[in-house]
Amino acid sequence: YRREPKMKSAPRKSCKNCGEDIEEVLKIYSQTWKKQEANYQNFSSKLSLECNGPEMAIITQTNTPLGSKIVYDGERFRTLQVDQGMFNNFAKENPFPKKKWHTCAVVGNGGILGNSNCGKMIDSAQFVIRCNLPPLTDEYKKDVGVKTNLVTANPTIFLRKYGALIGRRLPLMEKLRIYGNSLLLLPPFSFAMNTAVSLRVLYTVEDFGGPVQPVFINPDYLYNVSLFWRSQGLKAVRPSTGIIMASLALELCENVDLYGFWPFAVHPYSFHELTNHYYDSQKVGSFHAMPVEFKLLLQLHSQGVIRLNLGDCE
Ligand code: CDP
Repeated sequence: YRREPKMKSAPRKSCKNCGEDIEEVLKIYSQTWKKQEANYQNFSSKLSLECNGPEMAIITQTNTPLGSKIVYDGERFRTLQVDQGMFNNFAKENPFPKKKWHTCAVVGNGGILGNSNCGKMIDSAQFVIRCNLPPLTDEYKKDVGVKTNLVTANPTIFLRKYGALIGRRLPLMEKLRIYGNSLLLLPPFSFAMNTAVSLRVLYTVEDFGGPVQPVFINPDYLYNVSLFWRSQGLKAVRPSTGIIMASLALELCENVDLYGFWPFAVHPYSFHELTNHYYDSQKVGSFHAMPVEFKLLLQLHSQGVIRLNLGDCE
């Protein structure tokens, strides 16, 4: 049913200048991966109990009725009472099906995807999740694919690159075209500064007539996901978009593959220097201490719950 990712070569087990963190990762990663059904069931039911992503991740007219009070997840003192105008912006129906997808790919934006040749593997998943409106142009297609079923958007992109949508709106519509009719996940209720710009994105897409489907991420869900990961040892103030999407995928899909998750400055196979993103020349910030999120994901990988893909694809 499912092609196993074919790795060109096994990761080398030692790299003198990479630091102990990476050595430790490679030691764990070099074990053969196999899904461990009981561990997967256990983890995804814990997530369902505490976060209930399939019902709660997206604001709908059912889970957030008229008159209810929204609490911003990034500014918990800030609330908003849902009036008729706001209510009309919410999805009428939950976009997620009751039945789990068989295979999902969650694509982080790590530089490790550069020259990975993993585009086909990624696109072969039934449901593909991408983060922060990543470029999927011809130059990257081979490495990251194009299929997109859900894409998240960080409002700073709209503020910086699209003039907060106060001026021309066509450039944004042209950018969004590459994501087809995927769900565009907006966070209007994380911080006050997100609200107006997220609404402008929704209205822009509605006025131009799609094809992406803007939906609002539920701040209650985000808050519960952050509590969940805190209980797993993640002390960061806010979990990254990537780990939030991995959590959602673990509730929506039987088999979850992660690509582009590698917060280190050297490649695990070739040891060449990497940029933070596959599409830019920004340096990787964290070099020494193994980023905690990655450690948690690696732990899930070694327990057969989720599959981290670090190698190049055939
Ligand atoms: O803005 P943010 O760091 O949340 O995201 P991004 O840079 O657009 O990348 C999307 C996700 O990919 C992040 O949230 C991380 O989970 C993951 N990522 C990674 O694991 N390693 C990298 N070098 C870059 C991103």
